[in-house]
Amino acid sequence: MNNLIIFAHPNLTTSTANSKIIENLKASNLNFKIRHLDTLYDSYKIDVNKEQLELSNADNIILQFPFYWYSCPASLKNWIDQVLTFNFAYGPEGDKLKGKNLILSFTIGGPAESYTPLGYNHFPVSDLIKPFEQTAYLCQMNYLPPIFTHRMIYIPGVYNIKEEVEERANLHAQKLITLLRDLGINA
Ligand SMILES: Cc1cc2nc3c(=O)[nH]c(=O)nc-3n(C[C@H](O)[C@H](O)[C@H](O)COP(=O)(O)O)c2cc1C
Repeated sequence: MNNLIIFAHPNLTTSTANSKIIENLKASNLNFKIRHLDTLYDSYKIDVNKEQLELSNADNIILQFPFYWYSCPASLKNWIDQVLTFNFAYGPEGDKLKGKNLILSFTIGGPAESYTPLGYNHFPVSDLIKPFEQTAYLCQMNYLPPIFTHRMIYIPGVYNIKEEVEERANLHAQKLITLLRDLGINA
């Protein structure tokens, strides 16, 4: 199966979690292509044809990102806005993503207990990511259970211990790699 990883992170030099996940993926023997939007594109100008071609060739589409303001980084939202066009992703002839698997894989700063009614983030993560889920449905894609990990923010001396964030990132990556392997085996 062809795995396409659409990766959004505006500043990899400050990344602990996502860079570790990507490192794990690269060290695996999975067959995948990775597109880091923030190095591929300047000023949000996207090569829409190229992105649509890559999507058309993929079976599993993985969106990899850090959770930013209860959503994805702007580069990924911009990619969604520009690439999932009428009669490509939706509309009368828009069946090019039909039947493909969509997998969200993202890292969250806050702890799980903060995403509860009495926690400071109030809402469950599954509610906050509904726009991605509905996007998958509109595009006739299979929305697979997302993979996300809490307590992934690392700010030295303030939030978390680097080695622990890295360990959680390793576990996160192994979950994703296992899922992609299983999808390949069961294809
Ligand atoms: C602009 C910005 C917005 C963020 N918004 C959230 C948020 O809404 N909820 C949350 O739990 N963490 C939030 N965080 C924390 C990030 O999710 C966390 O630092 C990231 O997942 C760690 O990944 P990285 O090491 O690859 O950067 C935010 C961080 C930044 C920089």
